[in-house]
Amino acid sequence: MPHAEDAKPVVAGSANCLIVDDEPSVRRSLARMLQAQGFNCLEACTGREGLKVLDQTGEIPLIISDMRMPELDGMGFLEAVRQKFPDSSVIMLSGISETTTAVDCLHLGAADFLLKPISLSELQARVARALEKRALVLQNRFYQQHLERQVQEQAQRIQDLFLQGVQMLARALEAKDAYTRGHSIRVSRYAVATAARLGFAGPGLDGIRLGGELHDIGKIGTREAVLHKPSSLTADEFRQITEHPALGERMLSPLAHESPDVLRIVRSHHERLDGRGFPDGLRGEKIPIEARIVAVADSFDAMTTRRPYRDARPPADALGELRRVAGTQLDPNAVEAFVAAFPDPGELPVSA
Ligand SMILES: [Fe+2]
Repeated sequence: MPHAEDAKPVVAGSANCLIVDDEPSVRRSLARMLQAQGFNCLEACTGREGLKVLDQTGEIPLIISDMRMPELDGMGFLEAVRQKFPDSSVIMLSGISETTTAVDCLHLGAADFLLKPISLSELQARVARALEKRALVLQNRFYQQHLERQVQEQAQRIQDLFLQGVQMLARALEAKDAYTRGHSIRVSRYAVATAARLGFAGPGLDGIRLGGELHDIGKIGTREAVLHKPSSLTADEFRQITEHPALGERMLSPLAHESPDVLRIVRSHHERLDGRGFPDGLRGEKIPIEARIVAVADSFDAMTTRRPYRDARPPADALGELRRVAGTQLDPNAVEAFVAAFPDPGELPVSA
């Protein structure tokens, strides 16, 4: 019966080979051969001892293990090593010339299978091959992970550039029009404060911020003469106005995967609770909550800024109007959250 004292004690640090065999003479001769090749070897006399060594050292690149050992045999040891240290290369040794054992070991993930007695040249060749294979596997994984990260970073960069582009477009759209200058930023601020009151946080709140900024981006496709008309609109002109949510959604379709909430805001910010809004005539909770929040912010900012056809309304009046249309046009919860977020009309409107 072997004893732990038979094995070379574990030295923390730079071991790169573990030899597991219950015959001290085999261990020693293997260790000598491998040390001559520059390996720093640890030894264990059973599978269980081998696992204890690995628990202390962590992964060891090369493991050479006998098949027949007391306590935990080679097959059990191999299974445990594959589970805990899948990147270790394990070469199995056996005195039995059974091909089925070799096949079983290879199925379990052994790097190779050697029959005793082992010649130095055979050992050298098999060890070199096992380690080369291990290096290739590790290298492959590194490239794969590195590549995945690079692809992710590039996708993020592309998205950022796209966003910068549409944000600049939104600013450019407002810059042409004194009446709507700063509108999208103010709507975004109102909507974020309202959404925070309703429990939005993290990415959900970021979506509201961006959706608020971009909600009218589709107006880029509406003729200026219609956008800035000081008198009431004809039916055809009104139809042109109603096209901007769907056009905006199409423009922002590259965000569909990462930020679907932004697209929902852009498409549905003119829906009304009573179903009389556009473009889809959605009712009540069928209207995405993010869009209901932005609709409150949009309405308030529209009322409190001067337009070609009317003056700005005082903020206190506009708050009263929000409450008046809560339940028919606007979501009452979103209106109350807005009022709670901005309790002092004297501090309104916010600056862009
Ligand atoms: Fe709009």
